[in-house]
Amino acid sequence: MSSLRLSVFLAVVVIALTLPGEAVVIRNSSPVTLPFARRLNFTGAANLVKHDQARAKALKTRATTSPGTFPKAPIVNDPVTNGVVDYVANVGVGDPPTTYSLLIDTGSSNTWVGAGQPYVRTTTSVDTGDLVEVVYGSGFVIGQQFLDQVTLAPGLVIQNQSIGAALEDAGFDGVDGIVGIGPVDLTCGTLFPDETECIPTVTDNAFAQGLIDAHEIGISFEPTDGIDVTNGELTFGGVDESKFTGPLTFVPITTTAPASEFVGIDQTVTYGAADTPILPLSAGITDTGTTLLLLATDAFNTYQNITGAVFDNDTGLLRLTPDQFANLKSLFFHIGDTTFEFTPNAQIFPRALNTAIGGSPDFVYLITNDLGSNSGEGFDFVDGMVFLERFYYVFDIANSQVGFATTPFTNSTVN
Ligand SMILES: *[C@@H]1O[C@H](CO)[C@@H](O)[C@H](O)[C@H]1NC(C)=O
Ligand SMILES: *[C@@H]1O[C@H](CO)[C@@H](O)[C@H](O)[C@H]1NC(C)=O
Ligand SMILES: *[C@@H]1O[C@H](CO)[C@@H](O)[C@H](O)[C@H]1NC(C)=O
Ligand SMILES: *[C@@H]1O[C@H](CO)[C@@H](O)[C@H](O)[C@H]1NC(C)=O
Ligand SMILES: *[C@@H]1O[C@H](CO)[C@@H](O)[C@H](O)[C@H]1NC(C)=O
Repeated sequence: MSSLRLSVFLAVVVIALTLPGEAVVIRNSSPVTLPFARRLNFTGAANLVKHDQARAKALKTRATTSPGTFPKAPIVNDPVTNGVVDYVANVGVGDPPTTYSLLIDTGSSNTWVGAGQPYVRTTTSVDTGDLVEVVYGSGFVIGQQFLDQVTLAPGLVIQNQSIGAALEDAGFDGVDGIVGIGPVDLTCGTLFPDETECIPTVTDNAFAQGLIDAHEIGISFEPTDGIDVTNGELTFGGVDESKFTGPLTFVPITTTAPASEFVGIDQTVTYGAADTPILPLSAGITDTGTTLLLLATDAFNTYQNITGAVFDNDTGLLRLTPDQFANLKSLFFHIGDTTFEFTPNAQIFPRALNTAIGGSPDFVYLITNDLGSNSGEGFDFVDGMVFLERFYYVFDIANSQVGFATTPFTNSTVN
């Protein structure tokens, strides 16, 4: 890569830097399990909302972005907004491995490091001469591509994995980068000059190299009112039966674009025992890179109206009085032939953390927020981590389907 070419890219970007985090990699029996942590960095929930909305907007418009332009311009449409809630795992790169604290992201598929701790070359590093660029809406990365050894767990050491070594990035304070576990097609067009190439994900390589028996991942997460808690689990090559209670039911990835580009599904959302419609049958996505539950503006307005919630200026969230909360009903997510009940407690921000987000202990804040565009556009909701905290989640890549099951935490009242 010429320094002239590189300087062109460096000229268009801004700077971010940071501190790495912590988490412990352990090995279960096959399938292989990687623990991950939820970390909160409160700089105001308005940022939490802005981050998730900017991300949703970028994901939604990604499909209409013309390929063959590098760098993609404009780099960031919305102000860079660091994640307030990070879901991170420790991943080793190189030999000996350097350990990086990486966001677990089903909404993107490139793996890169260097936002905090820089990429360290070892004998296993192969510089491909390509640049890689990924735009996330709330941030971006431009890096040098290396092929390298990646250690997800002691028994899961992947060879020849594409790694972006960040040259410039923004929006990733507090983490070292991302391990992208979404559909491989999201990597297509992220390389330069090899713009027609796609990049196998860590899951793809683990499967192709015979390290896991099934081409799928399972994700367990538990609700918590703690600030820094390692109670997530990412399983490669299968599911962890100990983490769910009900049957796993699968639905195909939606055929409706642009949700079909992601781990997208079709769902209907209703409210209360009367099944009052909130969102008609619509396509949207499941996403570990989003914290909140985002609904298309019309559905969000209906939800606000029916709950009587008011917009809270301090947090950017909807809020209820305790009396209103006492009357809050469950939301019901109808996915395929299965209905998943999302309880009143699941719909609120952990009350123990109200003041940490600039809220008041006298109110109850709702984790449903506005997607920022109306329904009927093929990307009408984001079932973020607040949803996945209540249901076990499987991305079955081999069969292009998504599975859900109830867990011991589906009805938890921890919030
Ligand atoms: C290594 O990965 C690259 C792309 O990620 C691929 O083009 C190449 O064929 C792979 N090499 C081997 C030996 O698997
Ligand atoms: C917390 O967020 C702020 C603002 O985005 C950032 O400057 C800081 O580095 C973050 N701290 C950690 C530990 O992530
Ligand atoms: C809000 O609720 C009232 C009844 O409580 C209903 O008459 C009105 O149509 C609703 N508005 C919207 C936008 O859903
Ligand atoms: C919300 O905050 C903005 C500025 O942050 C202020 O201009 C506006 O008046 C506030 N609205 C309410 C209802 O408090
Ligand atoms: C959650 O509670 C509801 C209503 O009490 C009940 O029908 C359902 O079986 C419970 N679900 C789980 C997974 O425990």
